[in-house]
Amino acid sequence: MDVSITSRSREFDIATSALAGNGWCVVSNFLSQTQTQALSTECMAMHDAQLLTLARVGADHAATLLRGDSTRWFLPEALSTPQQAFANRIEALRIALNRDLFLGLVDSESHYAVYRPGTGYARHLDCLRNNDTRLISAVFYLNEAWQDAEGGALRLYFADQSYRDVYPRAGTLLLFLSAQFEHEVLPATRDRMSIACWMKQRVYADTRR
Ligand code: OGA
Ligand code: MN
Repeated sequence: MDVSITSRSREFDIATSALAGNGWCVVSNFLSQTQTQALSTECMAMHDAQLLTLARVGADHAATLLRGDSTRWFLPEALSTPQQAFANRIEALRIALNRDLFLGLVDSESHYAVYRPGTGYARHLDCLRNNDTRLISAVFYLNEAWQDAEGGALRLYFADQSYRDVYPRAGTLLLFLSAQFEHEVLPATRDRMSIACWMKQRVYADTRR
């Protein structure tokens, strides 16, 4: 028996069972420190070069109150080396989720996000029930030496209105079911970088229209 292959294919066991049981989980050290730093460096360089675009919810210019991040999508056909490392790891996770939970995830999409100090993202759901192919939300954090006192938590709300704060520390990946958990990004006192990723189900033609 090839032990190395067996153990490698089981590396996401804890994550998949926590996701199946609770609908959310945190994976620490999702990438190596070197890989995470390369993403962080690239994200900040792209931000400094003004390659990120202020996110808008609809055409409403008051939307900054709702959402203050700037984003840039990863282009699947033109991934940088750091982005490729992230994409490979997400792909391994997608395959593990399909194998263990029969989720039928066919694809994923990812973007960098930078929140300047004082900005956040008001409480929201990543997809409208039955109206979106987003099934799993995954947020990967890129911020070295983040202190809780700097704010910037992702606040994940549960059905009973209690919540859990997840701080955006480098190497942390938060996973949750997109249709089930409202969440918000609290403002921070320093720049806050993340990669937001969604794993998607197949698109079926909507015959209800
Ligand atoms: C989002 C989101 C959370 C984060 O982009 O929908 O909720 O921590 N991002 O960046
Ligand atoms: Mn969200």
